[in-house]
Amino acid sequence: MKNNQNLILAIESSCDDSSIAIMEIETKKLLFHKKISQDLEHSAYGGVVPELAARLHAETLPKILDECKEYFPNLRAVGVTTNPGLMVSLLEGIMMAKAISISLSIPLIEVNHLKGHIYSLFINKDVIFPINVLLVSGGHTQFLEVNSRDDIKILLNTLDDSFGESFDKVSKMLGGPYPGGPTIEKWASEGDNSPYKFTVPLMNSNKKAFSYSGLKNQVRLQIQKIDKLNSQEKNDIAYAFQSSAIEHLLHKSKKILQNTDIKDFAIVGGASANSVLRQKFEKLCKKNGIKMHLAPLEYCSDNAAMIARYAISEM
Ligand code: KG4
Ligand code: ZN
Repeated sequence: MKNNQNLILAIESSCDDSSIAIMEIETKKLLFHKKISQDLEHSAYGGVVPELAARLHAETLPKILDECKEYFPNLRAVGVTTNPGLMVSLLEGIMMAKAISISLSIPLIEVNHLKGHIYSLFINKDVIFPINVLLVSGGHTQFLEVNSRDDIKILLNTLDDSFGESFDKVSKMLGGPYPGGPTIEKWASEGDNSPYKFTVPLMNSNKKAFSYSGLKNQVRLQIQKIDKLNSQEKNDIAYAFQSSAIEHLLHKSKKILQNTDIKDFAIVGGASANSVLRQKFEKLCKKNGIKMHLAPLEYCSDNAAMIARYAISEM
């Protein structure tokens, strides 16, 4: 290894975001980060179409890589998301990472996407362990006890749909775009005095789990009863749905946060951008003497900066 090889290049392409980051290994400082989302292209279909996602990654990843050429002589390693994710999308990033690794004779570090989301908390920073983490994304809804990089216990998991996915599906039902989270949050903010009520999932059950398919069906049945939705009804349904969806996370997490010795807690993943969710958990944490952590907004959804940060922990 040469002295000036002090950087890592990381690639993220597990779903519908093409992203590349360059990070300084010693300082964990982010030097370059770019992400190109495919939201518009998938919106017409109401969700991610894997073949389309892969084709778009094949177009955009090389364009982003072109912008990082100046860093190539200083690369010591390359990191890439290898799972979980859409296989055809993952492969685009993996093949590019392999090509860089072979051509520059530098090691390739495989990164688990979910661990990447946890490490979004530590971009430009040192790690905090132990920490309880609520991971809310389009593919996952988990409450994790993170004792160290390799000691992660899943305390709660979803039985069916994920939190973010339920926002996407409700948005589709209400004629909104994909991804649905930001739109549902916006509509909900204008539906404060909602006449609608949806029951909170698993409220009277001791099951240590999350579930969103029942709530989604409650919303579907309600929409079917309305002849032609006007915008106020849309806002009111979004409000009632979001309230129950968040109350469910709070209700199940509360029991853990009240009884844990771990005094740090974080919410990560694309849906952690939701401001109502943030406020409610902030309040719950304060009540229980727990410090709440969040990644900066630009690193909540899928990005390569968190992949670079995790990969450094493996070096
Ligand atoms: O982490 P992420 O970018 O991708 C996955 O790994 O799945 O998360 C995307 C998910 C989508 O389901 C999106 O609707 C949701 O995060 N999301 C939100 C909000 N912003 C994004 N959900 C609720 N409220 C939001 N403000
Ligand atoms: Zn993700």
